[in-house]
Amino acid sequence: MMSVCKKVAIIGAGPAGLRAIKNLKDEGLEPVCFERTGHLGGLWRFHDEDMDGLASVMKTTIINTSKELGACSECPPPAEYPNYMHHNQMYEYIKSLAIKGDCVRHIKFHHETRSIEKANDYEKTGRWRVTCRNTQTGELVTEIFDAVCVCIGHHVYPHEPVFPRQEEFEGKILHTHSLKKVDAFQDQGVVVVGMGNSGMDAAADLTAVTKKTGAWILPRVGPNGLPLDVVYLKRWVHLLCRLLPYNLICYVSEKQISERLDHDLYNLKPKHRIWSQHPTVSDVLPIKLLSGTVAIRGNIKHFTKKGVVFEGEQEETEVDAVILATGYKVKFPFLSNDILPVVENKVRLYKFIYSPDLPHPTLAILGLVQTLGPGFPVAEMQARWVGLCLANLVYPQKNS
Ligand SMILES: Cc1cc2nc3c(=O)[nH]c(=O)nc-3n(C[C@H](O)[C@H](O)[C@H](O)COP(=O)(O)OP(=O)(O)OC[C@H]3O[C@@H](n4cnc5c(N)ncnc54)[C@H](O)[C@@H]3O)c2cc1C
Ligand SMILES: NC(=O)c1ccc[n+]([C@@H]2O[C@H](COP(=O)([O-])OP(=O)(O)OC[C@H]3O[C@@H](n4cnc5c(N)ncnc54)[C@H](OP(=O)(O)O)[C@@H]3O)[C@@H](O)[C@H]2O)c1
Repeated sequence: MMSVCKKVAIIGAGPAGLRAIKNLKDEGLEPVCFERTGHLGGLWRFHDEDMDGLASVMKTTIINTSKELGACSECPPPAEYPNYMHHNQMYEYIKSLAIKGDCVRHIKFHHETRSIEKANDYEKTGRWRVTCRNTQTGELVTEIFDAVCVCIGHHVYPHEPVFPRQEEFEGKILHTHSLKKVDAFQDQGVVVVGMGNSGMDAAADLTAVTKKTGAWILPRVGPNGLPLDVVYLKRWVHLLCRLLPYNLICYVSEKQISERLDHDLYNLKPKHRIWSQHPTVSDVLPIKLLSGTVAIRGNIKHFTKKGVVFEGEQEETEVDAVILATGYKVKFPFLSNDILPVVENKVRLYKFIYSPDLPHPTLAILGLVQTLGPGFPVAEMQARWVGLCLANLVYPQKNS
């Protein structure tokens, strides 16, 4: 057993970092949270500046997981909030959790973590040397911690594919990371590349979508007007999925989804089965397709001066802008690749938390999970388990 762990650095004061502060405190540990901005709440605090490495939702974003299933265990969102909250309500909820959990006094705002290195006695103690830069004064501060929880989110560093002859294009190209509102594109011809949830949100008010391999489009609204996740993310459904063949489960789900929106007819059907990837959620896509304000096209074959040529087409489509809704890269700029290697945008982590290659369970990565349902309860469970591990109440092993 490792020695009792006390002082823990938490990097990031988004939903995952705040859960970590609360749950580590519950185990009698001393969390010190470094947040590089002047605010808590992570990407749920809307801002309209385009800042490198700083994520935020769009002005119109509403969450795609219901408040019932996304709630923190000790405090549900207010009863008067809608099932699918606007990002402002989500931010208020996160703030209220931070206040209720007495988290704020543990946060050092304007502290950007620049490096996390093994302390000199790491082999024996598992301790880390954390260096942060005060973003207001420029001062560098180094401290030794018994453990570190990395909670910096994974929708921060844009993945920006480059298409043939892209340099010829005279219009605007930007990633959804930098897209805060679509007002500037009203009445323009816009191509949105990618059919994840960012692509759907961007396309909701724009004119064209390209797809790479298609996507299964799930609605937020389920049977009887209830939130879809409330209806289907149940223990009995989970049990059924374990008992019945995977292909049968997918077949039934795909059939149900296609009754609402025929994926073949609209050329949306992806190669992958419905439950093998993170689902895309959109309630407006069917009507956008029927009213012709969104069209599904092939991937971009190449750019031209005034637009693009889509795969499977010969003629140029003139457009004013191309929005890359092409997802994100996993990156830990303050950790060397020897400590935590990122290979093909993935990190090998036991229970999505601990690197199996490190000898001590003192570096925890929280929130790096692409969940089927809401991510917040998973971040909370991770934080609770890490709290127990660091307080020496459980030891991370296969049956814990
Ligand atoms: C547009 C959008 C909508 C989403 N909608 C949903 C949804 O409906 N439901 C759902 O479950 N998930 C959703 N997600 C996933 C989202 O990642 C989670 O909701 C959640 O915000 C993750 O929390 P986090 O604390 O891990 O990361 P973040 O919210 O990204 O917070 C990370 C924090 O770390 C700080 N930080 C980063 N680097 C450093 C550093 N070097 N030093 C100090 N501080 C640092 C940042 O400033 C930030 O405050 C959405 C993601 C996006 C992009
Ligand atoms: N309203 C909301 O709550 C909301 C809004 C936005 C985002 N989110 C969440 O934020 C996270 C990130 O979502 P995201 O949509 O930004 O990223 P994402 O889920 O990773 O989706 C990226 C999309 O880009 C496509 N793509 C990648 N490279 C491409 C290329 N070279 N050419 C064409 N297409 C390419 C992918 O297609 P392939 O799969 O075929 O590679 C995929 O469709 C998710 O968890 C999502 O649920 C939530």
